[in-house]
Amino acid sequence: MVSTCLAPVRAQQEQGLYLRAGQWQAWSGPTLTVRSPADDRLIGRVAAFQSEQIDEVLEAAVRGQKAWEQVPVAERARILTEAAALMETHAEELAGVLMAEIAKNRSDSRDEVVRSADLLRVTAEAGRRLAGETLVADAFPRFRRNKVGMTFRVPLGVILAIPPFNYPINLAVSKIAPALVSGNAVVLKPPSQGAISAHYLAALLLAAGVPGDVLHVVTGRGSEIGDYLVTHPRVNMISFTGSSATGNRIAKLAGMIPLNLELGGKDAAIVLSDADLDRAAADIVSGAFAYSGQRCTAVKRVLVTEPVADALIERMLPLVERVSVGLPEENAVVTPLISDQAADYVQELIDDALAKGARLLTGNRRQGRLLWPTLLDGVTEAMRVAWEEPFGPVLPILRVPNAAEAVRIANASEYGLQSSIFSRDVDVALQVAFQLEVGTVQINGKTARGPDHFPFLGTKSSGLGVQGVHYAIEAMTRVKSVVVNLQGPPDLATVR
Ligand code: NAP
Ligand code: G3H
Repeated sequence: MVSTCLAPVRAQQEQGLYLRAGQWQAWSGPTLTVRSPADDRLIGRVAAFQSEQIDEVLEAAVRGQKAWEQVPVAERARILTEAAALMETHAEELAGVLMAEIAKNRSDSRDEVVRSADLLRVTAEAGRRLAGETLVADAFPRFRRNKVGMTFRVPLGVILAIPPFNYPINLAVSKIAPALVSGNAVVLKPPSQGAISAHYLAALLLAAGVPGDVLHVVTGRGSEIGDYLVTHPRVNMISFTGSSATGNRIAKLAGMIPLNLELGGKDAAIVLSDADLDRAAADIVSGAFAYSGQRCTAVKRVLVTEPVADALIERMLPLVERVSVGLPEENAVVTPLISDQAADYVQELIDDALAKGARLLTGNRRQGRLLWPTLLDGVTEAMRVAWEEPFGPVLPILRVPNAAEAVRIANASEYGLQSSIFSRDVDVALQVAFQLEVGTVQINGKTARGPDHFPFLGTKSSGLGVQGVHYAIEAMTRVKSVVVNLQGPPDLATVR
């Protein structure tokens, strides 16, 4: 379908995308060039913002927000619902942009778009239900019923939204939708590899009716403009998803504003001897290698008890060998990684493990950024791959004597995003779940974020705050308290 709302993005994509106050403008300054990770072809260019343009955007966002919070919430929710419909109408085109820009395969790209449309709709509904509470003073010792407190949830102001490359649409929507429905303005700083997708998303939101001074896109390398943005006095809250290193830097710089940080992970799949091994093997393999392992929630290590280690590997190995490897257009599960550095890093972890005595079960083959799914047995705590997040298609297996040792190793990680426990014994599974120092434990299932209204959070280096529809709305609003002081019971007989 030929769309009018996406036409300006298509038209300007090669010269340099620049959105100013909701209008597509010609950009004469420096640009960032975005190329396909799969074959290096040009996907587009975006403006490289300087501090003057960032200041201008933030001043406009402050002004826009004041008017936006006066728009009835039902209308804000209607606009998001309209954006969901537009997104579905243009799902194929958006999926195509994702495939080209971040080398995500066809079905996962479509899924990211459809999931984002659902997320817009569900967030719109949740926004309509946002409510405060009433309190009466006599619930507190030595107070009378002479004060009534009312709480309201009010917007924070301008939200700086920074998503990562691996979900440039969905993780942008998970920040933009709760921010907008609750009356905030948004400054979106997309990942540089993902910035074209972000402009398509912005075009849909603007076409649905989000005012141009309420939603802004600021492009440029995070390493160049990041510090300026996160310390900007006009930013009232930062919602960031990305690496722990960048999240940590933001936390140190940002000062006294609310932060939501969704960061890296080293999710463990713990498999005990009574587990359903077929189910565990299937979940672990799909959890580890989907989108080439470039997911914060990917299964990133297996901790299996010795008695069933061989039987688990026997089931996993043929599944790993069947994982398709190729191009996004071929709908391969494993596609080229996002950059040369990313591929070099994964290779470094594999080489380190093999040099220290790990056993290669399959993989360790490479063509440029394309790495074949790699399964390593006999991984020990001395190897880097036991602790570091590869963000690529390598899965280490650590054999452990018992569940206690599995929990110890799982908890020794600097990360605490999610873990899986596979066991048929609900008592044991729950005990393990209670002891794991992570945001979410999956019992008999792979680690994963969705559905997107579930709370999503990390402990330790994996983050700060909670995402998920209603949690994100709470995080992007604050309590406003109004207290009515009563003068004492009036004599109603005197009131006419
Ligand atoms: P990243 O390098 O930290 O980048 C994330 C975002 O931050 C990008 O938009 C990036 O822009 C920007 N950025 C970079 N430096 C910045 C700075 N100094 N100040 C402000 N922003 C800055 O992470 P990534 O490589 O895109 O994503 C992979 C990582 O994200 C992995 O560790 C993964 O586990 C984690 N992740 C976590 C979750 C979660 O929800 N827990 C979800 C997805 C990914 P540029 O692209 O311009 O550098
Ligand atoms: O990469 C991090 C994402 O939050 C993971 O989401 O579990 O739906 O792939 P996912």
